[in-house]
Amino acid sequence: MTIHVTDDRHFELSTDHTSYLFNILPTGELGHLYYGPRLREPNYANLEANEFRMVMPVIAADRPEMSLDHLKQEYPSYGHGDFRYPAYQITAPNGARISEFAYVSHRIIAGKPRETAFPASFGEPETVDTLVVTLVDPVAELTLELSFSVFAAVDVIVRRATFRNSGQQTVALDRALSMSLDLPDSAYELYQLSGAWARERHLYHRPLTRGVQAVSSTRNSSSAQHNPFLALARPGTDEQQGAVFGFSLIYSGSFLAQAEVDYYDTTRVTLGIDPFEFGWQLTPGTAFSTPEAILTYSDDGFNGMSHNFHRFMTAHLLPPHWVHTPRPVLINNWEATYFDFDQAKLIALGKQAKAVGIELLVLDDGWFGVRNDATTSLGDWQVNVQKLPDGLGGLGQAIHGLGLKFGLWFEPEMISVQSRLYAAHPDWAIHVPDRRMTPSRNQFVLDFSRAEVVDAMFEAIDAAIVDAQLDYIKWDMNRHITELYSLALPPAQQKELGYRYIQGVYTLYDRLTRAHPEVLFESCASGGGRFDAGMLFYAPQAWTSDDTDAVERLKIQWGTSMVYPLSTMGAHISAVPNHQTRRITSLAMRAAVAFFGVLGVELDITRLPEAELDELRDLIAAYKAQRSLLQQGVLTRLESPYDGNATAWQVMRADGRTGLAARYQVMAEPNPDDHWLRLAGLDPAAAYLVNGQRFMGDELMHQGIFIPQLFDIRKAREPSFDQTHAFDFTARLFTITRIEEASV
Ligand code: DGJ
Repeated sequence: MTIHVTDDRHFELSTDHTSYLFNILPTGELGHLYYGPRLREPNYANLEANEFRMVMPVIAADRPEMSLDHLKQEYPSYGHGDFRYPAYQITAPNGARISEFAYVSHRIIAGKPRETAFPASFGEPETVDTLVVTLVDPVAELTLELSFSVFAAVDVIVRRATFRNSGQQTVALDRALSMSLDLPDSAYELYQLSGAWARERHLYHRPLTRGVQAVSSTRNSSSAQHNPFLALARPGTDEQQGAVFGFSLIYSGSFLAQAEVDYYDTTRVTLGIDPFEFGWQLTPGTAFSTPEAILTYSDDGFNGMSHNFHRFMTAHLLPPHWVHTPRPVLINNWEATYFDFDQAKLIALGKQAKAVGIELLVLDDGWFGVRNDATTSLGDWQVNVQKLPDGLGGLGQAIHGLGLKFGLWFEPEMISVQSRLYAAHPDWAIHVPDRRMTPSRNQFVLDFSRAEVVDAMFEAIDAAIVDAQLDYIKWDMNRHITELYSLALPPAQQKELGYRYIQGVYTLYDRLTRAHPEVLFESCASGGGRFDAGMLFYAPQAWTSDDTDAVERLKIQWGTSMVYPLSTMGAHISAVPNHQTRRITSLAMRAAVAFFGVLGVELDITRLPEAELDELRDLIAAYKAQRSLLQQGVLTRLESPYDGNATAWQVMRADGRTGLAARYQVMAEPNPDDHWLRLAGLDPAAAYLVNGQRFMGDELMHQGIFIPQLFDIRKAREPSFDQTHAFDFTARLFTITRIEEASV
């Protein structure tokens, strides 16, 4: 059993390698005791030890050592003596913001069914137990349920809070975070994934220091700017060793991820919906549940943390149907044609795609309304017969006739002022009456908190799926919300819009994926601007970045892999010069980077020279031959692009028998230092063939494979040397095969 309750007041949650302990405080609130490597036999008297402090508010005059301001807690409030930022805050009908939830009962539930109305983790009874602790505030007449789902085999605990109003009056929820965790010291570095368009999820870190440090999004989208994730690692932690806590939120809207170091060197980690611009009117008889937060701990460095996240998401978050379904190699026409395409061009692209082994053609932006650039037609999801005279149905038939699957781009949440939809429903665009509307990419956002808007988009997309027999949908989202206001909500509920909007997005995803379970969804937001665990619950893959440059992708894919598995990362081979950087890299380099994800092609292959087409065909065949490894294997990062000129990573099958490693060198180096590629996670006592050469696992991990320099200067002086050959932007691949014991 993963959940134990001792003395009716000590709760012990155990995963295979971690323990999470909390207790009931004398006030009835929940105190926190421990999270970290698994403890054999907790000494509760020690874990509950507490210092007397001068000048502190205390819980009662006869308990001078008990101040909420320095007790570790599970879901702290503000106003009773704890001056750190709380997990939640309410405003009572009389204007008071004080609350106090005391323990009443708890229950343990085996298994967690997959419920699709809102993204949430799930699992069979043998993989997850959930402890639900019920607390009440009799004055506010509120019930609080704190749930802790223990996914033992993947060392993950998932937390969520639910508020219920059992009284007669409406109570305002001003803050309702998903988790709060008080750690006993602050000797950590905070790691975050931050960036901007075309450079999403770059890894940044800084030491924790006294006070508040946070990353957040106020954009009503998880955003390219900051990802809903943070990690705390002991100084000296690297990819293979060291203690690290990872936190990730299953939510796609505004979030706050914060670490607060207090005056006694304890660290409070909080994660949830950003309280800025959030509010909820909890009316009598209703409940509000926060999104879920994922907590994990590993002693095995960042790879250990990532393996936990990856295994958890694969087994307990992604849509189960797609987890083991091989994802098709696709061609997307965006960088091949942008808006300038017609049926003939697409069919020519499709024919060539089929000839090189591609399996799915995705028609991107511009197939509907009168959209020939980014100024019009969002919302008019009817085919443009000027471009596609046989309609979506005709094009779908033609593409399917070539032996390809067919996919289509939508941006369901958006509206152009120049559209028939806007003419019919100007009130559907989010705006504040009598105020100017702020354009972004010439478009505005539909009010997805309104059921009729979600219904209209469902009908339009559903009709296109049926008409074109779609196999795939790319769901894009290319602007953030400004002038956040709904004409459909009363004034007191306006701060609910951010949450209600995302709920509308989830509702549409839920309806579409239930109506068409065979359609593969890929989420996108100007590239990877909404790459989060909430989206992945419905759309098992996401477009990682609009930046398809192979060198830039090293940092982006490295950062993304901190949390998200390979099967979720769309990675395309695009044209050179690259459209985002103008950099020229070889096809081999571009493929070697795009192999580590779900492979696609995004260039006009009808114009590729024959030799490159042949190379592309071979590369795609090689990817397909290794597809289950590259989409489902265990990714281990080896050399960081943030540390220098080289990047390396490996992927191994779960059984450890075969794998592939890649080492990329960005710039050529004159007379370089010695380089060794150290693999990881192998069996030290087993023999392996690496590119045909025999090694023992211990040597591969401890000394590594010698990496000779790319460019032997003596050869350049030989007359046969190709003087145009450059050595920047190179990749080397290493196939790894464990040799069967019998043949060793
Ligand atoms: C942004 C996406 O990231 C691109 O891949 C492409 O779909 C464009 N939008 C189309 O407008």
